[in-house]
Amino acid sequence: MKNVFIYGAPGSGKTTLGKKLAKRFLLPFADLDYEITYASGGKSIPEIFESEGEEGFRKRELSSLSATNARMQQLNGGIISLGGGALLNDQARNIAETFGTVFMVDTPKEELMKRVSRQSGSRPLAAEKERFEKLLESRASHYASFPSSINTHFYIDSGDEPSDIFVGKGLLRNIGAFATLRFSQRQRCVLVADENTNPLYGDTVEKSLINAGFDVSRCVIPAGEATKDISTVSTIWNSFLKAGLGRNDFAIALGGGVTGDLTGFAAATWMRGMSWINIPTTLLSMVDASTGGKTGFDLPEAKNMVGAFHSPVFVIADIDTLTTLPERELKCGLAESVKHALISDPELLSVLPNCDASTVARSLAVKVKIVTEDAREKGCRAKLNLGHTVGHAIEIATNFKIKHGEAVAIGTVEEARMAVKLNLAPENWPDKVASYFNNVGLSTTMPDGLTIESLTDTMKLDKKRSGETIAFALPVAPGDVRLVPVKL
Ligand SMILES: NC(=O)c1ccc[n+]([C@@H]2O[C@H](COP(=O)([O-])OP(=O)(O)OC[C@H]3O[C@@H](n4cnc5c(N)ncnc54)[C@H](O)[C@@H]3O)[C@@H](O)[C@H]2O)c1
Ligand SMILES: [Zn+2]
Repeated sequence: MKNVFIYGAPGSGKTTLGKKLAKRFLLPFADLDYEITYASGGKSIPEIFESEGEEGFRKRELSSLSATNARMQQLNGGIISLGGGALLNDQARNIAETFGTVFMVDTPKEELMKRVSRQSGSRPLAAEKERFEKLLESRASHYASFPSSINTHFYIDSGDEPSDIFVGKGLLRNIGAFATLRFSQRQRCVLVADENTNPLYGDTVEKSLINAGFDVSRCVIPAGEATKDISTVSTIWNSFLKAGLGRNDFAIALGGGVTGDLTGFAAATWMRGMSWINIPTTLLSMVDASTGGKTGFDLPEAKNMVGAFHSPVFVIADIDTLTTLPERELKCGLAESVKHALISDPELLSVLPNCDASTVARSLAVKVKIVTEDAREKGCRAKLNLGHTVGHAIEIATNFKIKHGEAVAIGTVEEARMAVKLNLAPENWPDKVASYFNNVGLSTTMPDGLTIESLTDTMKLDKKRSGETIAFALPVAPGDVRLVPVKL
């Protein structure tokens, strides 16, 4: 593999991330500051600054970068965490970009200020707050000139294969570099995209995988919920067969929740389980569907009826892909973000409908926390079904004309009404819940001709049923969702 260089402002967490990934994927790791100290016979970085000035330090840094890069190449590639100014020098940047892939760690300024003030002693340029702010300003355009940045990394180990989840920008062009962390170039892969995401992003992802040395085949599936069925799963299986994938090869899903659920299921069942990578390209999938390991497909009568738990090795959410997402789909994703806010982060409501990397990561964090605690939905994970029991029934009753997120918005308000009926919430609660969804542009009005009563039979087919009761996740206050068995 090519070396992976992790770069970013002082305090952004480069060493922490580099070490974590190296440990997880059993790869060689080097921290450039440590290498510089070692090469200078044990002088600390502040000591080098003191005696040789920044210029002397940068010279040492360039020579350590060059030596470490060469050493890692001999080891067949590894992870190198850089110092915060290591690539200011053109020669250094050229080495990193020619022999490896550079990922910026894009930590928000406020967080950097906090972290750096806690450890100023070991960071000469960051010693004083004002100086540090100036330094960030002076380097802003330099940092912005790197096309790939990671805003947040989550790690979930929920029983089967653990998942590393990345939220950032410009990540698609480097999917190949991510894949090399886990897979060797002898392994083959099938890239599954739907007919919308394939023309938009298929070539970028395929090119990146080919550049990283992988043998890639493509499988294009129809777009949309209406074909989230066994015949599309068959299409994917056939593409695996044609590409000659074995159990040690891998699949990549490039698309929304439908592509992810189908590809993940096809991978789960291929030779009793093959690894896969999920690249969510809808907001809904970024904040929700891509994470937690649920995969599957619909039966004509009931959504997601057949499935398997099978976590992707990587979830790589590149928020740049949201620029092409139709407005209506974006709103569907916002419905899940409102859901997450209602479950455990009410303050998130005040930053929606913003969709920058930090907001996407914050919404996703709610799901990550829940699936970490309860991977197999034995307890609190059921809270993520908020709005979904009624929502799924609306999707089916309208033949999917009402989209998933739109149905969840309506469903959540209906479920707030149920909470009122059960004396769990005050009278004005459903209106409040409606306002949270309306604020991000979603309607919460039941479609013409439908009532909660007319949806009962469909709801009775729900997976959450046991005997005559269905386990509902009912919203009762911002940040408070209760699991309540309700007899319909
Ligand atoms: N596995 C889980 O835990 C989980 C959780 C929530 C939802 N889901 C499932 O997710 C599905 C809904 O996901 P979805 O809303 O992403 O649907 P989707 O996959 O159908 O995507 C919506 C539409 O957007 C298009 N699209 C995707 N990315 C695009 C982009 N960047 N630019 C332009 N167009 C793009 C798609 O082609 C499609 O037409 C449902 O089937 C639901 O059951 C699964
Ligand atoms: Zn959902």
